[in-house]
Amino acid sequence: MRHPLPAARWPTEEEAAASLLFSPVRLGPALVAAHRTWVPAMVPWRATEEGFATPAVLDWYGRFARGRPGVLVVEATGIRDVPSGPLLRIGHDRFLPGLRALVDRVRRESGGETRLLLQGIDFLALRRRPEPGRFLRRFLAVDGPLRERLAAAEGDRRWIAAPEEEVRERLAAAPRAVLEAALSPRDLESLDFGHRERVTDLHLPHVRDLPRTLPGLFADAADRARRAGFDGFELHYAHAYTMASFLSPLNTRDDGWGGSREGRVRLPLEVLAAVRGRTGPGFCVGIRFLGDEVIAGGTRVEEAAWFGARFAEAGADFLSVSKGGKFEDARRPRIGEAVYPYTGPSGHECMPTVRADGAGPFGRNVPLAAAVRRAVREEGRETPVVAAGGIATFDLAEGILRRGEADVVAAARQSLADPDWWRKMRLGRGAEVRRCEYTNYCEGLDQRHRQVTCRLWDRDFDPADAAVARSDDGRRRLVAPDWPAGGAAP
Ligand SMILES: Cc1cc2nc3c(=O)[nH]c(=O)nc-3n(C[C@H](O)[C@H](O)[C@H](O)COP(=O)(O)O)c2cc1C
Ligand code: SF4
Repeated sequence: MRHPLPAARWPTEEEAAASLLFSPVRLGPALVAAHRTWVPAMVPWRATEEGFATPAVLDWYGRFARGRPGVLVVEATGIRDVPSGPLLRIGHDRFLPGLRALVDRVRRESGGETRLLLQGIDFLALRRRPEPGRFLRRFLAVDGPLRERLAAAEGDRRWIAAPEEEVRERLAAAPRAVLEAALSPRDLESLDFGHRERVTDLHLPHVRDLPRTLPGLFADAADRARRAGFDGFELHYAHAYTMASFLSPLNTRDDGWGGSREGRVRLPLEVLAAVRGRTGPGFCVGIRFLGDEVIAGGTRVEEAAWFGARFAEAGADFLSVSKGGKFEDARRPRIGEAVYPYTGPSGHECMPTVRADGAGPFGRNVPLAAAVRRAVREEGRETPVVAAGGIATFDLAEGILRRGEADVVAAARQSLADPDWWRKMRLGRGAEVRRCEYTNYCEGLDQRHRQVTCRLWDRDFDPADAAVARSDDGRRRLVAPDWPAGGAAP
């Protein structure tokens, strides 16, 4: 079923000025955003291979800043000093000059109006799906249990003591049914999806030590963001990454950092405390986490609400609620490619499209934010809650705020489709908004690690115009065209 875009009624300039959406919101003791409008983190694949900000990164954030959202969150930025492809990094002071330039650009383009946060992320190792022969001949661990299973599958005890090379050759030539019987579920997953580390891999020293290493890594990264001039830091505890995996019921660590919900929230709280301790009370620190993991055995909204209340109790300055985006139900990648956590049902809930079932994508995830907010308010805390997911009209956004379902409204893809849409609404010119179609062309580019653009504007340029920055293949413009009438700031 394909959902049509809902009709949009846009406010007059006076109505916008009197709205909750364009009223200020406090994000902790030290920060006030001028409006409850928010562009959440979106990875554009524009950093250098070494993780430095490029002119294209500055253009990307500068373009969003011209629409003057209350808050703009810089993409998931790696907190470690390890190579991670063209994603921004903040794991060393050498990244500071580029990040300072980014801050300056956003300040300038937004006339100082937009508050700028950076999202810090940690992720575990993920390998591409291997070529099967190579995996079976070189990387698979041939141990006693595997030999036993192979012997049982083949009805031949000889495999228990056969030379390792012979075992490997047999597996490389074996039909699928034999592989499924002989390989452990984890090895079979590595064969089909690529090897993926988990927070429960306690046999790996660096994974066992995460509770000791991550608080310092996050604290150092947040402090760099502070020194670069950002207004705050968003801890990425959502989707498929390390911190979300600690929160998940699939985290069965038995070392005090998993199991019960108290055990699972322990490291996330310690990271928050370490970041706060390093950056001080004058720096905004918030958390993005999942209102529902949308996978079998994962966190549901009741538990997420409890996590939200714990984060608020521990002094988080805001809570930004997302949904899904997990590896566990992702589609099998092609050989040589990495599994992408937004391809399965949980991924679809994270960035819902017009092909969504039931209610469609529009405001689809708001009930999760509302449940988190209720739990926080019931404990007497005013921590602001940010909702996202298919929010792209004034009435929907304002209704969410008026009904007290959230305190701030975030729009990722609508802001990509039209970075000026916030200002257009504010100026009473909503009829000029270029509306996102929620078909996820942009997400498809992200999936292929290509520079993210929007299909509504990326071919909209004169090929002879050398001033238009283009994608690597020269075919797409990299940022939305200017809004010709948008020169004068309100
Ligand atoms: C291209 C792309 C990249 C994204 N990158 C991030 C990210 O780095 N961190 C994050 O928390 N969410 C990321 N998201 C999710 C968005 O922040 C947002 O939660 C999601 O798109 C739903 O909101 P929307 O319906 O307004 O687009 C990304 C989304 C898109 C489309
Ligand atoms: S590419 Fe499609 S889904 Fe993405 S922002 Fe543009 S219109 Fe929206």
